[in-house]
Order: sequence, then C-alpha cells, then structure tokens
Amino acid sequence: MPLREIVQFPDPRLKRVCEPVGEITDAIRDLARDMCEVMYDEPGIGLAAPQVGESIRLFVIDTEWGEEGEERCPQVMINPEFTAQEGKLVWEEACLSVPDYSAEVERHARVTIRALDLDGKEIVEEAEGLRAVCLQHEFDHLDGTLFIDRISRLKRSLYVKKRKKQLIEESED
Ligand code: NI
Repeated sequence: MPLREIVQFPDPRLKRVCEPVGEITDAIRDLARDMCEVMYDEPGIGLAAPQVGESIRLFVIDTEWGEEGEERCPQVMINPEFTAQEGKLVWEEACLSVPDYSAEVERHARVTIRALDLDGKEIVEEAEGLRAVCLQHEFDHLDGTLFIDRISRLKRSLYVKKRKKQLIEESED
C-alpha cells in the first residue's frame, strides 16, 4: 500500500482545530502506524494527524532516531495537553507540510505534556530542548497553527509568495 500523502500549505485542512479522539479503535491504531511510516520515510521527527488529512487530536514523535545508532522509538500522543510550560528558547524549525522553508521560532524552553498512548494509558512527559520544541510544534498542528504563523508578518508573507510561485511552477510542469 502506498504511504499516506502529506497535506501541504496552503491546504485549508491544516487550519482546522482538530476533534478529540473518543475511543481508541483499530482505525486509530492503523492511522498511528501509517503516520509513523510516513514520518520515518520523509524523514521527520514528528507528524500530526491533520498532516495526513485526519482532523483528530493525535500526533507521533520520535526525536531520537536520527542520531547515529539510535533505534526507532515512536511515541504516539492522543488528546495531549500541556500541564506546565516555562522559559523561552529560539529554535530553527521546519515542517513536512511547509515545503522548502525553515525559520527561527520562539517557544517555551521546558514543558510537561500529558496524553494517552495507544493503549489508552496516561503518559506524562517532561521535556526540554529539541523534544520540547517538537512537542509544541506538533501540538500546534492540532489547533490549526503552523510554525509560519509564529514568525514575523514580513517573513511569513515572503514565504507565502515563494510557495505560491512554487505551486504555479509545479502546475505548469
Ligand atoms: Ni509540522
């Protein structure tokens, strides 16, 4: 089966506020597995359900596996919420749904997140650095927010222009 396609800016599906997951069904487990496949294939370190067109509060994250010798260790987070957010840091971010672009974004430096895993068990995780950035970035997707919504208006409009040009060129090929 082909991998699920990644929804890309400016697709309106990326702007939706996603619905909480009710029961954790086989369909949810299949979706999480498919999302991990897409994440490792791209490659990326996180992927949120709306990025594959599913408007539900679920994301997958693995910030370790790119490091040499590290095994894949995907974490599925369902209905996540932050229970603590502290400090500030600036990180260069990119997104599989925002092609050919990266920019510095200010985020909280340390977060505590609470979510359910695929067994419906509660997970509580404290994170900092890259992991904290990635958790906040993926969480944002569930509220219809992209990292380019958190940069200056000027930078954003330059990217939007570049992206429109890119889409016109692609449609002409
Ligand atoms: Ni993203």
